[in-house]
Amino acid sequence: MSKLSLDRILQSQGFGTRKYCRELIEDGEVSIAGEVVRQYKQAIETDGLRFHIFDEEWEYREHLYIVLNKPANFECSRKPSHHPGVLTLLPEQFSWRDVQPVGRLDHDTTGMLLMSDDGPFIHSQSSPKRHIPKVYVATTADPVTAELVNALLAGVQLHDEPAPLAALLCRQLDTNSIEIILEQGKYHQVKRMLAAAGNHCSFLRRTAIGQLTLDSLELEEGEWCYLTPEQLALLVPHSLP
Ligand code: URA
Repeated sequence: MSKLSLDRILQSQGFGTRKYCRELIEDGEVSIAGEVVRQYKQAIETDGLRFHIFDEEWEYREHLYIVLNKPANFECSRKPSHHPGVLTLLPEQFSWRDVQPVGRLDHDTTGMLLMSDDGPFIHSQSSPKRHIPKVYVATTADPVTAELVNALLAGVQLHDEPAPLAALLCRQLDTNSIEIILEQGKYHQVKRMLAAAGNHCSFLRRTAIGQLTLDSLELEEGEWCYLTPEQLALLVPHSLP
């Protein structure tokens, strides 16, 4: 349980500077439980708080934990250069809260992208020590062979890596597609591993992180959702079959 003044609450949720949030409140744009609140100093319980701004309903969230079904042609970088950034697919106030992608997908990779404004969470999810499996479906330019799958499972040497990198699991899905599970998150890792094994990745999609699958979230490309505590609990290392 914790109480905060309404202007601080709005600021913490990314609605703008404290001054701007005070103006919103004094202008009658903020209501709670159907009542317009004009006193910005009023202390309000944040736990379970729902409020309306400009007639849109929001729920107070100390931190944001989001999954975006990333479409192609969006960049994860903070300063995108050739394509729009993934943050443009989220409500504007999330940028004010410093929401950022947890790890990166290439601009042409689609699928599951975790995003948050919780620094320790971002750090622990991205830490190589945590070994959280990430599942990708890769379309290959040349047909998949048993040699390709075996090479990816045995480990392939990438240019700037000290030791070969191996997939945790890899299986053929179709003539030109594989599912590959990695526990590292090296730069262009799937594409470079496929190239090192003598094929080429022509399309890449991330379908799961830990035990949380993108399918279970039922998001169209470009859509996002908040994660529940139960879904967050699935973003952990786990043993594979
Ligand atoms: N591996 C890649 O090559 N690209 C991605 O976007 C993610 C993993």
